Amino acid sequence: MLLESLVLCFLSLVLLSPFATSEQCNPQDKKALLEIKKEFNTSEVLQNLWNPKTDCCIWVWIECDPTTNRVTGLVMKFDEPSNDIVGHIPSSVAQLPYLEHLEFNNLPTLTGPINPVISNLKHLKYLVISSTGISGQVPSFLSGFQNLELLDLSLNSLTGTIPSTLSQLPKITTLRLDNNKLTGQIPNSFGSFRKPGPEIYLSNNRLSGHIPASLGQLDLESIDLSVNRLEGDASFLFGSKKRTRILDLSRNLLAFDLSKLDLPNKSLTFLHLDHNYIYGKIPQVLNKVNALERFNVSYNLLCGEIPQTGDLQRFGVFAFYHNKCLCGSPLPKCK
Ligand SMILES: *[C@@H]1O[C@H](CO)[C@@H](O)[C@H](O)[C@H]1NC(C)=O
Ligand SMILES: *[C@@H]1O[C@H](CO)[C@@H](O)[C@H](O)[C@H]1NC(C)=O
Ligand SMILES: *[C@@H]1O[C@H](CO)[C@@H](O)[C@H](O)[C@H]1NC(C)=O
Repeated sequence: MLLESLVLCFLSLVLLSPFATSEQCNPQDKKALLEIKKEFNTSEVLQNLWNPKTDCCIWVWIECDPTTNRVTGLVMKFDEPSNDIVGHIPSSVAQLPYLEHLEFNNLPTLTGPINPVISNLKHLKYLVISSTGISGQVPSFLSGFQNLELLDLSLNSLTGTIPSTLSQLPKITTLRLDNNKLTGQIPNSFGSFRKPGPEIYLSNNRLSGHIPASLGQLDLESIDLSVNRLEGDASFLFGSKKRTRILDLSRNLLAFDLSKLDLPNKSLTFLHLDHNYIYGKIPQVLNKVNALERFNVSYNLLCGEIPQTGDLQRFGVFAFYHNKCLCGSPLPKCK
């Protein structure tokens, strides 16, 4: 009995700790967060969260630096699309000067442009605004972040062209602008990303014109330009010395000779080239790309026999069909 009451006594002390111990949260950061809560005042979820009487470093979506206790993360990420957060990106985020990770994810009722006050967040490493109703342009101030490693603006309603200055981001490792309504060309400057270059995802936009040949200077691990209106050559993206794993150029208007391609034959796991105007033959070297897991060259203008000595056949008819005169297993025999 005595032990039990001691335990109970101890437990109640722990549970009341917000009052018993000094709180970690920086008061200015807490003030800014409560402003954000006010800006999102229609949110039923937030109503019951972020209790002003408690330490903000233990609040949901908040990360604090363990030594300085400054708020370093505001990560509003939902597994399913949530219509609970309605309105614009709150201007009060600019009052969280130590933010390294700002994320709004799966919030279709978050609308308006990318708030320019974000440019004040000099410490940002990860900026994710994805699967929201955010519209307007990709702002050029984004290129000023000296520490930015991840820029993910995918699955929004962004319009306009891609700012050429993004290539100045000195630490970028992943650039996602896919699934928007971006127009114009891929900037020429993209060849001047710090080498080897970030993973680049630009699929499902309305990008047009030629892919800048300067991109061939990079050693990209992943590049996805699928479902756009890109035309002309893309052969410079390949290279046997490159470490490319994922190359997706499907559903464009690209036209180049596949026969002579020098493929990144050590690393390539994903090669989708379907729905273009690619011509020539399937190079023998593709036989030796052991790591290849996904492959599709359907709906092009390819000709000649599919290499029979390896096991390209494993990808089946649908990876090869609808070409000009491609033949041999898994397609019908060559005449
Ligand atoms: C939410 O905030 C706006 C602007 O601050 C205000 O006009 C509105 O009355 C508030 N709504 C509620 C439900 O508190
Ligand atoms: C990859 O391609 C290069 C150049 O074509 C060739 O020298 C090398 O043997 C190939 N590697 C493999 C594993 O096939
Ligand atoms: C290749 O792409 C075509 C056209 O989009 C599709 O019908 C087919 O299922 C794909 N095949 C494979 C193996 O991915």
